[in-house]
Amino acid sequence: MPFYYRLGEIPHKRHTQFRRPNGELYREELMGLEGFSGMQSIAYHHYHPTQLLNAEKLADMTPHYTEFGPLRHRHLLTTHFPRGGDVISGRRVMLGNHDVTIGLTLPTQSMSYYYRNGQAYEMYFVHDGTGTLKTNLGNIPFGPGDYLIIPFNVTWRLELNGDHHRFLVVESPTAIVTPHRYRNQFGQLLEHSPFCERDFRPPQALETHDEKGEFEVRVKARDALHRHILDHHPFDVVGWDGYLYPYAFNIADFEPITGRVHQPPPVHQTWEGHNFVVCSFVPRLFDYHPLAIPAPYNHANVQSDEVLYYVEGNFMSRKGVERGSFTLHPSGLPHGPHPGTTEASIGKERTEELAVMIDTFRSLHVAQDALEFDDPAYATSWVNH
Ligand SMILES: [Fe+2]
Repeated sequence: MPFYYRLGEIPHKRHTQFRRPNGELYREELMGLEGFSGMQSIAYHHYHPTQLLNAEKLADMTPHYTEFGPLRHRHLLTTHFPRGGDVISGRRVMLGNHDVTIGLTLPTQSMSYYYRNGQAYEMYFVHDGTGTLKTNLGNIPFGPGDYLIIPFNVTWRLELNGDHHRFLVVESPTAIVTPHRYRNQFGQLLEHSPFCERDFRPPQALETHDEKGEFEVRVKARDALHRHILDHHPFDVVGWDGYLYPYAFNIADFEPITGRVHQPPPVHQTWEGHNFVVCSFVPRLFDYHPLAIPAPYNHANVQSDEVLYYVEGNFMSRKGVERGSFTLHPSGLPHGPHPGTTEASIGKERTEELAVMIDTFRSLHVAQDALEFDDPAYATSWVNH
C-alpha cells in the first residue's frame, strides 16, 4: 500500500532489543518485495518464523491451458460452477498467462489450515458472502464488493459466514497496486484519483497467539502446494509496521469519472500489475453531451486481451451474459456493443452496471477447467441474436 501503517506493539528503533514479558527477545522479521528495494514491513514474533517441524509437497498447481483454436470472442457461463471446499481448494483457474491468472472459487467452508502464497499476490473480489480475512498482520472483515489484496508472504486463513460465497480470484507474480498516475512522488493519492487513502481498509485487530503446538501452513511456491508444520501458532505477531500488508477496498468506494462524451476504459482503472490492469465499472451517470452515445464504440485495442466479469445490473452493451459470466475479447479482433444496444443507450441518464474488467497486455490462454463453461454461440452473437 502507498501509506505507512502500524499495528500492535513495536520497539522505538528497528533492529534493537524488544522483549517478551518473560524477558526473552521477540523475533524480528523483515518482509519485503524486490529484495530490500521495494515495499516492506517489519513484524515481531513470539517465535522464530523459521521453526519448521516438517515440509511435504502436496500437489502440483500448474494451470493446464488448452489450444485456443480459431480466434474468436469467448463467453464462459459460470452459473453451474461447482460449489465446495474452502477458498483455496475450491478455486479453478479459468484464464491465464505468465503475468496473471483469473479464476473463480465458490467455497462452502472455512479453511482448516493456514495459507501463504510465496510466488504471487492474490486478489479476491467478493461477489457473494461475508466473513473475515484473518492474517498474521491482523484481521479484515469483508463483504460483497470488497477487493481483498493479499501480498506475497502474508500468512492467512479465510473464515466464512454461512456457506454461500463467490469470489473472483486474480493471482499475479508481481505486486497488485493502484495506478501510478494517481500518486504523487511521496505515494499519496492525488485529487484526480477515483479513490483516496480513507477508502482502504488495512487490518484493524491484531490477533496474537502465543501458543506452541503443531500448526499446518500450506505454502504455494514453485507452482506447487506444500504443507509445512510449524511448532508454534503462525499468528504469533505482537506488532508490525511498514507499507506491505493486506487490505480491503470496496468497489462502491470507487468514484466514477464521467464526461460529456464516452470516457475510455482507463478512467475505470483500479489496480495494475506487470502487463495487466484491473478496472471497476460501477453505477454512474451517463455522458451528458446532447448527442452523446453512452454505449461504447467498437474498438480494436490490439495489444490487449480484455476480460469482463459481470457482477450485477444490466450490462449496457452486452446481451446473453449472466451474473458471474466472463467474456474474453482477444486482441486481433475488434469488439463492440451488441446490435441494438447502441441505439438503446441514447437518452439514458445512468447505468446500474457493476463489472470487473481485466485487460492483459499479452495473450490469455483458456484453462481446460474452463471449457465446460464455454458458450460456443457467443462468437457469432453479433449477427445471430
Ligand atoms: Fe473493450
